[in-house]
Parts: sequence; C-alpha cells; structure tokens
Amino acid sequence: MATTSKNQNCSLLQTHRCKYQPVLPDILKKGPCFVKAKNGKATQSVADQAAVKKMFPNTYGMPEITFTKGANPAIGKKAVKVAVVLSGGQAPGGHNVIAGLLDGLKKANAKNKLYGFLGGPSGILQADWKEITPKLMESYRNTGGFDLIQSGRTKIETEEQLAQALENLKKNKVNALVIVGGDDSNTNAGVLAEYFKQHGSDISVIGVPKTIDGDLKNDKIETSFGFDTATKIYAEMVGNICRDVNSARKYWHFVRLMGRSASHITLEVAHKTHPNITLVGEEVLAKKMTLKQIIDYLAGIIVARAKQGKNFGVVLVPEGLIEFIPEMKSLIAALNDLLADHEAELTNMSGIDEKKAFIISKLPAKLAALMQSLPAGIAAQLMLDRDPHGNVQVSLIETEKLLVEMLRTKLADLKKAGKYNGKFSTITHFFGYEGRCGVPSSFDANYTYALGYNAAALALNGCNGYLSSVRNLTRKAAQWQCGGVPLTMMMNMERRKGKDKPVIRKALVELNGEPFKQFAKKREQWAMNECYQFPGPIQYFGPAEVTDMITYTLRFERANKK
Ligand code: FBP
Repeated sequence: MATTSKNQNCSLLQTHRCKYQPVLPDILKKGPCFVKAKNGKATQSVADQAAVKKMFPNTYGMPEITFTKGANPAIGKKAVKVAVVLSGGQAPGGHNVIAGLLDGLKKANAKNKLYGFLGGPSGILQADWKEITPKLMESYRNTGGFDLIQSGRTKIETEEQLAQALENLKKNKVNALVIVGGDDSNTNAGVLAEYFKQHGSDISVIGVPKTIDGDLKNDKIETSFGFDTATKIYAEMVGNICRDVNSARKYWHFVRLMGRSASHITLEVAHKTHPNITLVGEEVLAKKMTLKQIIDYLAGIIVARAKQGKNFGVVLVPEGLIEFIPEMKSLIAALNDLLADHEAELTNMSGIDEKKAFIISKLPAKLAALMQSLPAGIAAQLMLDRDPHGNVQVSLIETEKLLVEMLRTKLADLKKAGKYNGKFSTITHFFGYEGRCGVPSSFDANYTYALGYNAAALALNGCNGYLSSVRNLTRKAAQWQCGGVPLTMMMNMERRKGKDKPVIRKALVELNGEPFKQFAKKREQWAMNECYQFPGPIQYFGPAEVTDMITYTLRFERANKK
C-alpha cells in the first residue's frame, strides 16, 4: 500500500485532494462570457450615510450586481492582466480563490494573465509579484495556507502609498486588482477603488470576503470563507478534550478560541461540541457584565458541579471577550488613544515597567487603578502595539489565564466560607493558528473557488469597488447565486487610532439571532451534564451528508430567509 505520494513534497491527502474539482454554481459553469451583470437599485451605506458618502464621492451608492445567464462575448475579446493579493490572517481556501480567479480569466480568454502580489499589500507598494500560471497553480489546488504568494497586514493609507499603488499598477498595465481580505482589508479595497476612480484610472478593485472569524457578513454576504474549515478543526480538538475530560474526570479545561471581537467561532464550536460553559462576548457586553460577575457566573457552575462530585468540565472563551467587559472596554479605548498619541515617547522607552508607569500616570484614576490591579502579564499584553488597522491584538492576550487566576482566588474564598469543597485543577489552551491553514473543507473548497471565479467575472465586467458575492449557501453549490455588492454599502464610521474612519461594519453575534437563541436554550443542560459531542476530523471523502456539512451558524441564520 502506498504510504507516501509520488511527489515527495506532497502528502497523500494533498495529492488526492489536488484532483478534487470544486463544484461551480450553474450560472458560472459556461464561463464569464456567458453571464451578464444585472444592476439592482442604488445602494446606501449601513449607517452614517452622509459621512461615508463624503469620503467616497465617486463610488458611493453604486447598484448591487447580480449575474444572470446571457451571452457577453465582448469581455473575452481583449486580453487583460489581473493581480491578486492576500491580505490579513490566513484562512482555509485562499489558494482556491486564486485557482477560481485564474480559471475564470483563462476561460474568458486564454491570453488573460494573473499575477500575485507577494507578502500582502506591501507587495503592491513594492511591485513585488509573480505570474500565477496554470502549472504553478496545480499543486496548490484545494490546499490550505497562503504560501503560494503569502500574506501581510500592511494598510495602504497615506496619500503617498495610494499614489504608489496606482503608479505600480498603471506601470505594469494591470486592469484589475483583487484583494482577498477581512473587513479591514476590504475597507482598504474600497479606499483604493475610490482613489483610482478619483484619479481618472479605470483599474477596477474587487474584494473577496475572507476571515476565519466569520464577522464579515451581512444580508448580502452570508459568510466569509475559512470559517467553515476553522470551526471544524477547533471543534474536532474541543470534542477530543471533552472526551478526555469525561474519561479522566479530574481537570477543568479553559479553551480560548480565535475570532477577534466576534464570538461566532466560539458559538459555532459550542454547537458542535456542547461544552459545559461557553462565554459569549456580545452577551457580556449587552448585560454589561463586569469581570467580577463573569467570575461569579463561572464559579456558580463549578461549585454546583463539584457538589455532584464533578470536578471537571470544559469552558470556551472567545478571544475577544476582554474587549467586551465594560471596565476593560473603557481601559482598552483609553489605551488605544494613549498609544496613538504618545507613540514616539513609548517607542523610546526601554522596559515594560517604564511604559506601564508612564501609561498609568496618564490614565484617569479609576482606569489607572484597574490597570494596576491586573496581573503583570495581562497588563503588558494590553499595551502591545495595535495592528496597522488600529485593532488590539487580542490573540496575544491570555484571557483564559486571567479567568483561571481570578477563579482560584474566588474558589479559595468560597472554600474558607464552607461553600465549596471541590478540587480545581486546570489546563488552559488557545486554539487559533491551528485552524487557519487547514486543508479546506469541501464547503470552503467550493465556496472559495466560486468566489474567485465570480471575482474574475466582476473584473472582466469592469466593476470597481465591489465585493465578490456568492449566496444561497445552504443549497447545493450548483444552485448558488453570484454577483457583487458595493463595498461602500457595508460601511459605517468607527473610531480608529483616535480618529473617526469609514470602515466595513463588523458583524457581531446577535443575541436575538438563531445561533445564540438555540445555544441559550441548551446551555443549562450542558452545564450540569455531560452532553458532549465529538465531531471528529473533517471528512474529504465519504457520504455527502458528512463531507458537505455546513455550519450551524449558516443553517440557523438562513433557516427563515429566502
Ligand atoms: P483577519 O481578520 O485578517 O482574517 O484575521 C483573523 C485572525 O486570525 C484573528 O482571529 C486573530 O485575532 C488575528 O487574525 C491574529 O492576527 P495575526 O495573524 O497578525 O497574529
């Protein structure tokens, strides 16, 4: 029996998976020259219409686009050059976006060319790119990772950078730029689209919705790619921990899950595995729960289980939780402004203690006291540099350890008061990077290929400032609908790096949405009992019921929609 693939650099699974032909939506099957772009009504941004319009005078209000069947031979006549860039965190399926884009372009005209900017948006500024040929693409089809062209988090924002980007694209005769990214990167795509138009260029900019976090979605974008695969990977690991917990019955496992501010990943993994406790950042925010109240809630369940002799359990913690606890939220907002205002002074300081003392001296008394009271590690993590888009790097803040430390104190007090007689042995985990480059599930392999192919159709139709949109995702891939949504339509104004900026609105967990409501119905039962589910690894071969399984989030959210 073969145990390695013929190509020594490829695993057997990769070799077989490369042969998988993603299912294209019927509408795209004959190629971009057989679809027509149908314009909908003029659109509005989701909020702050006047302010967003002012920032995007040339690309605001454009109509939504739906692709319908119809001959459109003109778009295949002239050979074009398209460039693609992967921006931000990795998400399973990125390579298939490129494969779909390449195949769509070549189907329209074999002379069309695709280039990939290397290392994320900085590649655009440095004109650092390579041609993506069908031969090069071959071994990357249906694989995880972004290593074909890598990624980066550079934000193209200054006048100088915008001008440089335009000059590099013009010089190299690029007709369209496809930016594969999350909410921030696609906001950046909107900014570039506006800038190009304003400067009389007809280069189009198309976005593709990527992020494992699942927070780039709205009425028109049902999910971002990567969420399906990443949550399946985390759920496999959490399910295994649940089984370990139930076998050994001696540890409480605290698992922090990636996802930035939004708790979509945590909620989806909860639906897949039924852990004893799941914290949802958005609920903490809505109920204005303080850190003390969260600890009381956790301790309540730990004590109740201990009374039944169950000194074990699994707790899921979204990585963005910390940003939603009211007192921490105020502290983080104040730190964001301080770090932006005193950047130069802070850079010149040598040690963390000096920085902390400086920051504490500038904070209002209440926040200074809170900062002082935090474990040294957490305080240091809160002061780390923000990412280029101004976000706190929540993946680096060990909230699960903060909770465990505070719980120890609380449970010791309860023990002294004779209210708790259990044992609290803990193990902490952070699952994040493990899920971002996994081999895409069949759903993500199909979805990303369709998003890329659809982006080719948008680019060939000269659409500028649009996000590639593939919808109807609860149906079979063949029935998915395709088109484009104006990037400005998804924007609102938010405070970033101490200034109000137009950004694509992040979709947080909605407490009146089905995914949360379904979870809320069951959580008490999951808390006291061992209702654990073990989803196991992603299946690439086997019954369609298993291989093509979609997320609970998508299923619940779309249940009552057309
Ligand atoms: P994107 O929003 O760019 O898709 O990033 C997702 C993410 O994985 C978050 O869940 C996480 O907080 C962050 O990236 C980590 O960033 P980095 O890769 O820079 O450490």
